[in-house]
Amino acid sequence: MSDLKKLFIKTYGCQMNVYDSERMAEAMAPEGYVTTEDAGEADLVLLNTCHIREKAGDKLYSDLGRLRALKDAKPDMKIGVAGCIAQAEGAEIIRRVPMVDLVVGPQAYHRLPALVRGTDSPVDTDFPVESKFDLLPARKGLRGPTAFLTVQEGCDKFCAFCVVPYTRGAEVSRPVERVLSEARGLVERGVKDLTLLGQNVNAYHGTQNGADVGLAQLIDALAKIDGLERLRYTTSHPNDMADDLIEAHGTQPKLMPYLHLPVQSGSDRILKAMNRKHTAESYLRLIERFRAARPDILLTSDFIVGFPGETDADFEATLALIRQVGFGMAYSFKYSARPGTPAAEKPELPADVADARLQILQALVTQQQRAAQDAMVGQVCHVLYEKVGRMPGQMVGKSDHLMAVHVTDATGKVGDLVRVLITGASTNSLAAVPVV
Ligand code: SAH
Ligand code: SF4
Ligand code: F3S
Repeated sequence: MSDLKKLFIKTYGCQMNVYDSERMAEAMAPEGYVTTEDAGEADLVLLNTCHIREKAGDKLYSDLGRLRALKDAKPDMKIGVAGCIAQAEGAEIIRRVPMVDLVVGPQAYHRLPALVRGTDSPVDTDFPVESKFDLLPARKGLRGPTAFLTVQEGCDKFCAFCVVPYTRGAEVSRPVERVLSEARGLVERGVKDLTLLGQNVNAYHGTQNGADVGLAQLIDALAKIDGLERLRYTTSHPNDMADDLIEAHGTQPKLMPYLHLPVQSGSDRILKAMNRKHTAESYLRLIERFRAARPDILLTSDFIVGFPGETDADFEATLALIRQVGFGMAYSFKYSARPGTPAAEKPELPADVADARLQILQALVTQQQRAAQDAMVGQVCHVLYEKVGRMPGQMVGKSDHLMAVHVTDATGKVGDLVRVLITGASTNSLAAVPVV
């Protein structure tokens, strides 16, 4: 098997990049590439990049700097840049770092083999009409019990701070049958827990036999697959929540009691400047409806602090919203001006003001996360084992609420879905024992 070549992929950014990296590895398998964890032995290195904040871009260029020594030692090594920076910067990346052999945007991964062979031009950042999903080879072989599945890609929302509409293009939904067949394939390979992905996943509108199908109907269709036990979806926009999707949280037992619903700010003035097209009040009303449908639903969110023009009063309004909702977890970011976005034209706040606000917000969210974790102690729930724990006789997996759980279970196996009693909590994980 000496003609097997090694592929090293580093993934930055969101879950969609994780999914895409897996698909790129599959696209290269028929070319004789197997994946490696060691960049030093790789024949092909792919950096699957993220453009969302400035730091993400800096990371690419510092990693390329480190790869230089590896490429010097192994001149045949090919280096490719994929993902959202590839889309945003294109050939500029090769001008800046000439040792980069190819640049491939998120919509062109099916052309990766030709790019690597050198039969296509080294830069492909088109938004082609054919669907990349359907041109990539099917997946084979057993895998872990959880998986991502992209059902929608791109975004038409144009939040004033965000590059995604430019890097991922307009919203496109995959047809229902394609999603179902990919999901069946994953279940045959051992998947029990599926997270449906889209930049704006709740705007999913596929077609089946000529009829329009929304996300709730897609979830119902997926739930009929035997062996598929859990479904989630991310990320949603508050303005695209359909009534039947909210109801599904109360009626579809395979839909997990978990929702990631980014709000970004609690100030209507800032939400307007962000072009979010929802208010703090409309967000709170939406949350009430989810809680009415599924009282134990765990809510998580994203926040940006220090958006241009954010005053102390605006920031207080964000804290007030957080106190009112009570989140199980939240990601929070300091605003980062991105080239080409409308917000980048506006004067930025002093960095120390934004830093101080970020710390205050994170302290509040961490407190809420701890309270949500503590509230699980004494409850019975299900955990899907994803790996063996570090302690002997311990299994690690996720609860229905997507919390990490360490279960003392000497006979447990990866892929088991086990009823457990939660016996302890810390901010980031729970302890549990199986119950019958
Ligand atoms: N489609 C998803 C994901 C967008 S990116 C959504 O709408 O939520 C994930 C998060 O990154 C966003 O929710 C936002 O909080 C953050 N983000 C996006 N652009 C940013 C920027 N310019 N500066 C700081 N954070 C940003
Ligand atoms: Fe970006 Fe807004 Fe679209 Fe999310 S909804 S991807 S934050 S533009
Ligand atoms: Fe980053 Fe692109 Fe995802 S910018 S967050 S990798 S869609």
